[in-house]
Amino acid sequence: MIRLLTKEEPLPYDLLLLADETHEAINRYIHNSELYVLEQENEMIGVYALYPISAQAIEIKNIAVLTTCQGRGLGKLLLADAVSRAKAKGYSTLLIGTADAARGPLYLYLKVGFKIYATKENFFIDNYPTPIYEEGVQLKDMVMLRMELD
Ligand code: ACO
Repeated sequence: MIRLLTKEEPLPYDLLLLADETHEAINRYIHNSELYVLEQENEMIGVYALYPISAQAIEIKNIAVLTTCQGRGLGKLLLADAVSRAKAKGYSTLLIGTADAARGPLYLYLKVGFKIYATKENFFIDNYPTPIYEEGVQLKDMVMLRMELD
């Protein structure tokens, strides 16, 4: 079941840190986001954060599935849930960003219908204290994707 995390509940940093490098980076958006969690037998195994950008657009700032549960379609399930909740809230555009070198998430977002519309140059250099590497490639730019909701 996917449900909204209440403000009284602790933030699931263990999951959020799978998708973002530092507590500091997460804290820049998490307190103004709605957090949805996927639970299985009382364990949180997935999360996504919805952050309003404008009256029309909302962004998935963080999406993660517990490492041991990845590759079973749960990421797709979380994305589909985000799409329907964003639509139900009346937004017309859903945004998501990922690192230029993060092939897995990028393919997943393209697969479910997001389209690339911009690149935030040097995002991972300017916003994090130390260089970040994924599969030996330094993360530099943030690729921004969007989906029109109808
Ligand atoms: N390379 C290529 N394709 C991939 C990869 C990969 N590494 N990972 C997933 N995919 C594809 C799969 O092939 C699958 O397609 P298919 O259904 O046609 O076979 C599709 O993506 C969906 O896979 P799921 O099983 O639904 O994805 P999963 O449950 O593993 O969740 C997620 C995806 C959330 C990215 C997960 O792997 C994860 O938590 N990763 C670590 C955190 C992370 O990187 N989060 C995204 C950062 S960007 C952001 O948060 C906005």
